Amino acid sequence: MTTQLYNQHVEERRQRSTEILQETGYDGLVLSSGTAFRYFADDMHAPFHTNPHFAHWAPLPGPGHLLLVTKSDKPRLIRFAPDDYWYEQAPLDRDRWGQWFDIEELGSMEDCFDRLPSGQKLGFVGDATGLASKKGFGEADLNPEKLLRRLDWDRSLKTDYEIECTRQATVIAARGHRAAKECFENGGSELDIHHAYVQAAGCVDPDLPYNSIVALNERGAILHYEGKRTDGDGMVLLIDVGASHGGYASDITRTWTRSSADPVFVEMVNHFDALQKDLCQQVRPGLSYPDLHHAAHVAIGDLLYQFGVLKVPGEEAVEKQLTRTFFPHGLGHFLGIQVHDVGGHQKDPSGGTNPPHELHPYLRTTRTIEERMIFTVEPGLYFIDLLLDPQREGDHRDSFDWSLIDRLKPHGGIRIEDNVVVTADGHRNLTREELP
Ligand code: GLY
Ligand code: MN
Ligand code: MN
Repeated sequence: MTTQLYNQHVEERRQRSTEILQETGYDGLVLSSGTAFRYFADDMHAPFHTNPHFAHWAPLPGPGHLLLVTKSDKPRLIRFAPDDYWYEQAPLDRDRWGQWFDIEELGSMEDCFDRLPSGQKLGFVGDATGLASKKGFGEADLNPEKLLRRLDWDRSLKTDYEIECTRQATVIAARGHRAAKECFENGGSELDIHHAYVQAAGCVDPDLPYNSIVALNERGAILHYEGKRTDGDGMVLLIDVGASHGGYASDITRTWTRSSADPVFVEMVNHFDALQKDLCQQVRPGLSYPDLHHAAHVAIGDLLYQFGVLKVPGEEAVEKQLTRTFFPHGLGHFLGIQVHDVGGHQKDPSGGTNPPHELHPYLRTTRTIEERMIFTVEPGLYFIDLLLDPQREGDHRDSFDWSLIDRLKPHGGIRIEDNVVVTADGHRNLTREELP
């Protein structure tokens, strides 16, 4: 199944690359998988992340590889395969990879570069620009802006293969999330919950697409909290963890409560879950993502009004910029090879930027929704001192119920995050298929 989808994916990459080469005036495209990064004054390398433009073609791990794509030839995979007994050097299954690529294997990155043809106009994409310059690439052909933006645009519309990889990443993450929930319900600490997650997901930390956010109680209000405290018996768990499959990420958040939580907060989580599902239901081609973000603000404002946290209804709360106090991040972002995938602000295939509104600087997606996009829908509602304190003294202080806020504050916050694929007439919620 996946092989067939990958066949189609490579075929589509070839067609798109031919168009891109024609549009940008290049004979060929050289994608480098990247260079290992070593920490300063150390002999240790950072975990390696493949250049996403290379990963878009080939789920082949490790640095140093080159992929040469031209308008008509079968793509050439020039694999860096050093003689090295320090690290595992798994052999390449040449029969399998040979279906899609002409393969050469060399022992040094320099030798890999030496296999590139001369006399052609090639655009280089990757971080190994020093080696590329030595090989004769001119400055203008190293990561040319026009080429990169064109590639980014393509990455924002996923093939069936990519959708399937994201679905698989969701299946893995859902196993982890179920185990994490159970661990929390049994009084586990953040560290215990994290371990329960990775064990059930069948991976180790470097396999995760981003550092897990496992926050008990008030720490849920730290948007990217990465600590792992060892005290357990929490009232609330906000857990934001994904998984990887074939180089594609899932990015999922759930907020769970135990009986020790304030019933008002528990009820708020239930309403918030309905609110999040309702936002997902609105996803369809033609809708502007910023409009969906605005709808989230109004809905969160209405929820806060319903619960008495705010004394003005949603539209008015948004107009007075009160909802930003509780929901200070964007509704979501593109998802793919990168967790915050590229192209979210891009104006058209050749480039340009549609920045988010100045009141919503953290909104990562300003595009009109199109079929084959994958993005997250992740509204949040938090009690963050840094944002609440100015309001306590501000012009709108009487629009807040401060005693209720102080009562709910120890619960941290709520975020619920699903991964959604846009279809021709609506959407498919990959996350809810696994975690209803
Ligand atoms: N896990 C990071 C995010 O949700 O964007
Ligand atoms: Mn996210
Ligand atoms: Mn997330």
